[in-house]
Amino acid sequence: MRRRTFLKLGAATAASAALPALALADVPKPYSFDAAPPLDSVDAYVKWMVENRGEDPKHLRKRWERYGIMKGNQYFTTKNDMRGFLMVPREEFCLKYNQDQAYSYHFLDIGWGVTISGPDTVGRMTSALDIKKGEKCLEIGTGSGYQSAYLANMTDKVWSIEIIKPLAERTRGIYDALIKRGYTEYSAITSKNADGYYGWEEAGPFDKIVVTCGIDHIPPPLLKQLKPGGIMVIPVGPPGAQHVLKVVKDVAADGAITVARTDIYHGRIVPFVPFTKLVGDAIKGTYSQ
Ligand SMILES: C[S@@+](CC[C@H](N)C(=O)[O-])C[C@H]1O[C@@H](n2cnc3c(N)ncnc32)[C@H](O)[C@@H]1O
Repeated sequence: MRRRTFLKLGAATAASAALPALALADVPKPYSFDAAPPLDSVDAYVKWMVENRGEDPKHLRKRWERYGIMKGNQYFTTKNDMRGFLMVPREEFCLKYNQDQAYSYHFLDIGWGVTISGPDTVGRMTSALDIKKGEKCLEIGTGSGYQSAYLANMTDKVWSIEIIKPLAERTRGIYDALIKRGYTEYSAITSKNADGYYGWEEAGPFDKIVVTCGIDHIPPPLLKQLKPGGIMVIPVGPPGAQHVLKVVKDVAADGAITVARTDIYHGRIVPFVPFTKLVGDAIKGTYSQ
């Protein structure tokens, strides 16, 4: 049975003690989509972020370092993609024991046997979505919350679904605590605990869909909820060996649906945690055959 438990705002108490202590000062300046951190100088960037976002220079310098690598590898397509990456405090979405690893290449443990994807992967998948402000974006697999936080810097309409209930609650708690501190952009994220295979029909159709767990086919309900011309980025393939596909939906005059697929990693295998299945209230198995 599909669950539609909407998570209540203010569930900060669900945030695990293993998460970083929320000790930083409040964000000094109100969020705006027009706020533009410098993209070309580390010192100017750190200064701007300290003044506008109240963040720790130690994390900011590491974020910049990762940004430089991603930029060098051409993982960003637009300045908006770069801005999105630079605006998100990834460390807030990593466990306490991984704080020093927040900007390393690798995916990291977030509990319950699942992971926060590596920053390069998130950056590359987000760029492939080509999100514009005002577009409706759905994420399957909220996990740590980092990907949706990134999306919330690209558009003001984000929905995210997580199948693991305590993880969905913990992440909602992180967003709510950050919103209270002044990260008001995360108010754009509506989240719920459910099986994402079925998408979020009442909120759709969506301009963009990003799937962050691996499956061997494109879930038909997700394709249905994608607008004509919409883009889905999804890891497709056998367990632990997916290709990250960019899927563009086309609907012909007679209603026939076709999809154009490209592999955003040009054939490289990228392993993702499995797209699991809810049976009643329990997670049992996966959707892959
Ligand atoms: C790679 S992890 C998290 C990535 C996440 N976007 C982030 O930024 O941390 C993928 C997530 O997908 C979730 N997941 C797996 N199957 C799912 C399903 N059927 N519906 C919703 N979420 C699912 C997992 O529980 C896990 O949290």
